[in-house]
Amino acid sequence: MQYKSDFLVIGTGVAGLSFALKASKFGTVAIITKKKIMDSNTAFAQGGIASVSSTIDSFDLHIKDTLDAGDGLCNREVVEIVVKAGPERIKELIDLGVQFNMKGPSKDSLNFDLGREGGHSEKRIIHAEDMTGIEVERALVEHVKNNPNITIYENHIAIDLIICSTRMKRGSIITNYEDLCVGAYVLASETNIVKTFCAKITLLATGGAGKVYLYTSNPDIATGDGIAMAYRAGATVANLEFVQFHPTCLYHPDAKNFLISEAVRGEGGVLVNSSGEPFMAKYDPKKDLACRDVVARAIDTELKKRGDESVFLDISSKNSDFIKKRFPNIHENCLKFGIDMTKDPIPVVPAAHYMCGGVVTDIFGRTNIQRLYAVGETACTGLHGANRLASNSLLEALVYANTSAKQASEEINFFDNKAIQDIPDWDELGTTDSDEVIVVSHNWDEIRRLMWNYVGIVRSNKRLERAMRRIEIIQSEIKEYYWDFKVTADLIELRNIAMVAELIIKCAIHRKESRGLHFNLEYNSRDDSRWLKDTILRRPFVA
Ligand code: SIN
Repeated sequence: MQYKSDFLVIGTGVAGLSFALKASKFGTVAIITKKKIMDSNTAFAQGGIASVSSTIDSFDLHIKDTLDAGDGLCNREVVEIVVKAGPERIKELIDLGVQFNMKGPSKDSLNFDLGREGGHSEKRIIHAEDMTGIEVERALVEHVKNNPNITIYENHIAIDLIICSTRMKRGSIITNYEDLCVGAYVLASETNIVKTFCAKITLLATGGAGKVYLYTSNPDIATGDGIAMAYRAGATVANLEFVQFHPTCLYHPDAKNFLISEAVRGEGGVLVNSSGEPFMAKYDPKKDLACRDVVARAIDTELKKRGDESVFLDISSKNSDFIKKRFPNIHENCLKFGIDMTKDPIPVVPAAHYMCGGVVTDIFGRTNIQRLYAVGETACTGLHGANRLASNSLLEALVYANTSAKQASEEINFFDNKAIQDIPDWDELGTTDSDEVIVVSHNWDEIRRLMWNYVGIVRSNKRLERAMRRIEIIQSEIKEYYWDFKVTADLIELRNIAMVAELIIKCAIHRKESRGLHFNLEYNSRDDSRWLKDTILRRPFVA
């Protein structure tokens, strides 16, 4: 079954939906999402969007904070572009109907109620209570659903990108092969039919890969699908060793992936140990508002030293009405687990939160494969370097969705339909239904546990090599299973988390220093003489 459109968008977070809305002015758009349209990492973003809007703040300060957090690896040009584009993108969201918190009735941008998060030297987080992602997603979904040029396919999971290799000739000599993306094979998970989506431009906006780890703030969908598909297709990926662990996820046996926003510390919340003693002053002069890598490592050290299962985040010194008004979602969710944050310290632990590396793109969101773009957490644009500054991610997604939609809409004028004709359908000849689903669930658990234990907040060469040996065995088992049996959504996700896990381990082994989010016990600090560069991976060419 073949579906043709001008643009194919894979993923329905802020990056995918913003791109789709803009691209729809220039052609037809098919959006595929593996669950429901609202199921995305964006919907889980609590804190907000970092953007300069007050008279005491400046682009220079936001740029400096981003560069400092990135620990030497940010691309300065990209940082400047993204930071300076912030106010315009925020205005556009307001025009789409997004309701941000204001200090009073005026909707003037100088009147935003600004939050503060770790690593920011000024208050600059524009937010919608503690549910910014849901509010942005709500407005975008409303517009996308009413757009006649956009078709949404829910419960459709991409298996692989479709790549044509065109020969570049000089005279009679083949000088090079140029890869061209012409769409993706997609499993409709409710019917188990594999469909062929053909498009002139394909955008990967599949979010992050938190599910590679046992403990994560991410929803179940975050299985690194875009990064894995792009790498298999021959795209360059980079900096996957820089996995950001959020310092404060709710620690409770019945709570799954619930984040306690950094904004709680921004409003005066203090981290304390099980004896009620604040401990961050021992680790950083900025105390509880140090960058995330520092806070996550400090918590890890405290837990290991004291043998405790969690630390605590205490904001009970603040007025209870203020807490309920500023953090209605966190307050309500904590109450469900018997914790009243207006009186009790909240038990918290770090968990995998954000992938700073990803598919390498240029400043227009283009990958090294022709007609393939990547935006949002899937991409590695150069903004985050070795550590992302809090609340810079929605900003990056908005800015790059805009520039790549512009670029793609110009490019599309030069493409005819030839490349998307005669694409063969998915071939499942010789495969049968699986008789051993246990292989999928066993490997799924093993990967997530080994990544947590060996490739977590604190790493060592020995742990990384052990992880590599394990993932190689798991990978060969998955490959065998993949070619013998019909694909299922679970198998597709397992194949992707295994791929991303392997890439994270490879990058982490390669980097022989400690920098930003990559902390290896064998190296005390960063080594600019050798490692002031990205870790680049590209699949070896197989003829
Ligand atoms: C948070 O609210 O702490 C998360 C914000 C972010 O990850 O940028």
